[in-house]
Amino acid sequence: MSKVALKKKGRFGKVETTGKFIKRKLEDTGSAIYRKLIFPFVKMGIERKSDSIIGKGAYLYNGSTLEGKDFIGDKAELSNVRMGYSSFIGRDSVVSNTQVGRFTCIAGLQTAIGRHPIKGECISVHPAFYSPEAQYGYTYAKDAYFEEVKYTDKDHNICITIGNDVWIGKGVVITDGVTVGDGAVIGACSLVLSDVEPYAIYAGVPAKKVGERFDADTVGKLLALRWWDKGEGWIAEHADEFRDPREFIRRM
Ligand SMILES: CC(C)(COP(=O)(O)OP(=O)(O)OC[C@H]1O[C@@H](n2cnc3c(N)ncnc32)[C@H](O)[C@@H]1OP(=O)(O)O)[C@@H](O)C(=O)NCCC(=O)NCCS
Repeated sequence: MSKVALKKKGRFGKVETTGKFIKRKLEDTGSAIYRKLIFPFVKMGIERKSDSIIGKGAYLYNGSTLEGKDFIGDKAELSNVRMGYSSFIGRDSVVSNTQVGRFTCIAGLQTAIGRHPIKGECISVHPAFYSPEAQYGYTYAKDAYFEEVKYTDKDHNICITIGNDVWIGKGVVITDGVTVGDGAVIGACSLVLSDVEPYAIYAGVPAKKVGERFDADTVGKLLALRWWDKGEGWIAEHADEFRDPREFIRRM
């Protein structure tokens, strides 16, 4: 069914007006110009200010921030992502509405944010029937009927929270509403649908707990210590001790 044909017969819902179409095209052109011509200079400013490295073709937008000494891989796209101190994210990652802690290592991540009604709430999964936003050009819905996104921090429009000292392998997908605990590990190609316990190793589709980094006593002590919040001076002074966990914990 062509949209034009339906529109003429007057059977279609609220469609994009010519004014909205022109506005969208102008915004598209504006953001393409910004990304190509202006962002390379903005990027240099962010790198200098935050002492970070942003790879070739990488793009930070929608208020994404780097706390400092971060590394963003080539062609990674971050939309409303807050990167904690000294964290990195690998090339080609596409991440949005996510809080990342400090010293977190992300090899390759795609965030999957958004839900459709699949449990009998609506006859169709198409947003035209439950979302007034007209994201795909038109809608029949007059009000928001269905919660399309789960938040971990609604005030900051954050849908996924990743802790400190986390390692995420290559090719991982995380869905909205998920919190990944401090110190956790997520295996390559995992699909993370629910919260990940601190210092646990998760893997698979869907991701399940397959191991632990330390015994429970050590985990408790590390979570209480929060070494990632201690500051550069303390971390530099104790960095050598990190390689002897038993002694490190004994001295705490
Ligand atoms: C998760 C990971 C760290 C676990 O390493 P490990 O502790 O040596 O894991 P093991 O080999 O002991 O595996 C434990 C179990 O989890 C399973 N498993 C491990 N990684 C898995 C993965 N990515 N997906 C699915 N299952 C996985 C193993 O098959 C094993 O299952 P079993 O007990 O039924 O045999 C590792 O497998 C991984 O995925 N590393 C990421 C590598 C990467 O992406 N590097 C990018 C550069 S940073």
